[in-house]
Amino acid sequence: MKDRMKKITVSGDTGKSRRDFCKSSALLAGGFMMTQLPVQASAFVEGSDKLKLALIGCGGRGTGAANQALNADENVQLVAMADAFRDRLDGSLSNLESKFGKSKKIKVKESGKFVGFDGYKQAIDMADVVILTTPPGFRPIHFEYAINAGKHVFMEKPVATDAPGIRRVLEAAKLAKEKKLNVVVGLQRHYQTSYREIAKKIKEGAIGEIVSGQVYWNSDGVWVRERQPGQTEMEYQMRNWYYFNWLCGDHINEQHIHNIDVANWFIGDYPVSAQGMGGRQVRNGKDHGEIFDHHFVEFTYPSGAVIASQCRHQPGTMSRVQEVFQGTKGSVKTDSGNRGTIKDYSGGTIYNHRGRNDPNPYQVEHDELFASIRSGGVISNAEYGAKSTMTAILGRMATYSGQVITWDEAINSKLSIMPETYAWDANPPVMPDENGHYAIPVPGKTKVI
Ligand SMILES: NC(=O)c1ccc[n+]([C@@H]2O[C@H](COP(=O)([O-])OP(=O)(O)OC[C@H]3O[C@@H](n4cnc5c(N)ncnc54)[C@H](O)[C@@H]3O)[C@@H](O)[C@H]2O)c1
Repeated sequence: MKDRMKKITVSGDTGKSRRDFCKSSALLAGGFMMTQLPVQASAFVEGSDKLKLALIGCGGRGTGAANQALNADENVQLVAMADAFRDRLDGSLSNLESKFGKSKKIKVKESGKFVGFDGYKQAIDMADVVILTTPPGFRPIHFEYAINAGKHVFMEKPVATDAPGIRRVLEAAKLAKEKKLNVVVGLQRHYQTSYREIAKKIKEGAIGEIVSGQVYWNSDGVWVRERQPGQTEMEYQMRNWYYFNWLCGDHINEQHIHNIDVANWFIGDYPVSAQGMGGRQVRNGKDHGEIFDHHFVEFTYPSGAVIASQCRHQPGTMSRVQEVFQGTKGSVKTDSGNRGTIKDYSGGTIYNHRGRNDPNPYQVEHDELFASIRSGGVISNAEYGAKSTMTAILGRMATYSGQVITWDEAINSKLSIMPETYAWDANPPVMPDENGHYAIPVPGKTKVI
């Protein structure tokens, strides 16, 4: 599908766009040292007072998440929005206004709109609860700032694109717990009834110990945002972010994380190592950046269990998004269509979930976040969100290098893939050659640690 930034699509809805982005606001990478800041109390906790909401990253998911947050609580008000681009912010706001009217739920004045690379700071400062839905490369920076500022957070998966980013999120996650801040991560299967029921039954021993599994995200692929005349390289990559690792982390991280995370959740652990293979056969146009179109990884867990993970973005091939596990006593199959089945090895069905009327997990995430804030509870999803993101990055390291990579090597890697400077006229970490193509990882040659 081609998307030339003419609209913002939110679950089938459209928003309008205007092209007007703010010129360069530079921010040095690693510019915030959370450890130097005092532990503060949360901006707001229990009661029924007004909760002010800020949206950082006003694209499709951000607009959807803001909609769900505004529906989750009677007394929540959107007061600030930040986006790299003005047209994205305007499209998102008009979409939300069309849903909520000019009601008291939407109170975003011109002074509450922030555009550019560092607008997130002012927007977060204005709120009690923040939604972080930019491309994942920025998540560690934004999450760290929000937690330092004492805000409750909903943040989308993945939560980083490299190991230094993961470590930053894990540090901020610890601080969030100390400050009793709620953090929900958009791995929505954790908020989906079918997965919750199956996870409970696995924990109760329904299939014994998991010894193997297969997890899949095989599909046609996603949007491409073509290069437009007059764009700087930074603007082009920010618009076409899916295809650049510093922003996206490759599709094994951006999409397949959902299925890999289910493996971690059901096994109750994280892999000790990974090895795999991958490449790109049909994704080879100028607007396809540097990412692969397929990955196949074997993740080995401390128990010896091995999970085979496959993700593919190739039009016309078999589509399958699912998780399957074999235990010592039985097997499990789950998918995002509210279905989950547990069988024994004689073919008998132990449990069959068909949740036609199950609640929408994207809404449940926000319902539970706001209920927890109101009741003084603490939801802490950031650690598993970071470790499942790390698992996907570990898989990418294995397919890019063609080597066996251990968890310890991966999570301690000092290799940052993020830019040193965030500015519209700065060079991103990867640049095209004279023909407009980017260097593609080469197994056996590419260094990932
Ligand atoms: N849980 C899910 O099922 C699900 C579904 C879709 C997307 N997502 C996740 O949500 C995130 C956003 O995806 P999307 O589909 O909304 O993408 P999108 O391109 O529609 O939106 C991203 C927005 O962030 C803005 N942005 C980029 N860098 C920024 C910065 N530094 N500061 C402020 N704004 C910035 C972009 O201009 C854009 O408007 C991704 O992490 C994606 O993986 C999750």
